[in-house]
Amino acid sequence: MYVLGIETSCDETGIALYHATKGLISHQLYSQVGMHSEYGGVVPELASRDHIRKLTPLVKQTLNESHLSAHDIGGIAYTAGPGLMGALLVGACTAKSIAWAWGVPAIAVHHMEGHLLAPMLEDNPPQYPFVALLISGGHTLLVEVQGLGRYQLLGESLDDAAGEAFDKTAKMLGLGYPGGPRLAALAEQGQSRFTFPRPMTDRPGLDFSFSGLKTFTMNTLSATEKTDQDKADIALAFQQAVAETITIKCKRALQQTGLSRLVIAGGVSANQHIRHHLQVMANKINATLHYPRLEFCTDNGAMIAYAGCQRLLAGQQDELAIVTRARWPVDQLSRV
Ligand code: KG4
Ligand code: ZN
Repeated sequence: MYVLGIETSCDETGIALYHATKGLISHQLYSQVGMHSEYGGVVPELASRDHIRKLTPLVKQTLNESHLSAHDIGGIAYTAGPGLMGALLVGACTAKSIAWAWGVPAIAVHHMEGHLLAPMLEDNPPQYPFVALLISGGHTLLVEVQGLGRYQLLGESLDDAAGEAFDKTAKMLGLGYPGGPRLAALAEQGQSRFTFPRPMTDRPGLDFSFSGLKTFTMNTLSATEKTDQDKADIALAFQQAVAETITIKCKRALQQTGLSRLVIAGGVSANQHIRHHLQVMANKINATLHYPRLEFCTDNGAMIAYAGCQRLLAGQQDELAIVTRARWPVDQLSRV
């Protein structure tokens, strides 16, 4: 069965075709980053309108490149949440209309389930059970994954998500949008000069808090002359603090659950500094790390097509009504 995947939860239009036994057939991504960078962040209304413009041509292109037609498709998977409501609605309405027209089932996919299953698209996918660290622009979650749809939330950010903290700190440093990769690049030029706090690591628990780091960055920055070197040193100290905080919590999560596999996904998992810290920790406790390929760390249609395909194979499918959810706890998903 070929499943068409549609991702429109934020500022990327992602389309993919996944086959139940042949695996990933093709995928396309259109990023709106250029459009939003002018405003220093995602403008929801512009995002929705651009998804409308790009979605149908991208679906056609993906089918053409795969030499497939509507008759070959067995189901449509789309991101139903969490995300920007307008952007989600564009994907959901398009997906359900196509499904209706082609006479195939549609299936709603949770965006974070997509991220945590993204490593399953690789050649050596992790076996269940595992701990998943999901670090994106909107979420920071530690989840115990016993199987498909069997997710227990271990910890989450009580305020800013990790990616949001990167983006806001980058903005303070005058780096523009999207901030995460730019801050990481600037940190390369940094020297170890400042020590930032490792929030919530001095007490038990697996929750995160990153908003204090933002204030710490602001105070540190205003106490300097704001030279390029000052900014690079601050970027390094910030990244170091996030990397160590995340690593401490992941080690705790692995020890608490007794699991030895850690899946890391979401946009921030592209950060090489964080990867290095996690790898050192994993080597010490004999744990293995599993990442999606770099292009599937950030938002994409392939992870949605994969997750939807698994659920369709298990006999799940949507009712006719179009339901999208801006907020949707990952542990409320149905088991497969
Ligand atoms: O998963 P994603 O593509 O979209 C959401 O679902 O949010 O994640 C985007 C986030 C942004 O905050 C971006 O700044 C961050 O991931 N990001 C990074 C890096 N690449 C992307 N953060 C730190 N270092 C990176 N290399
Ligand atoms: Zn995402």
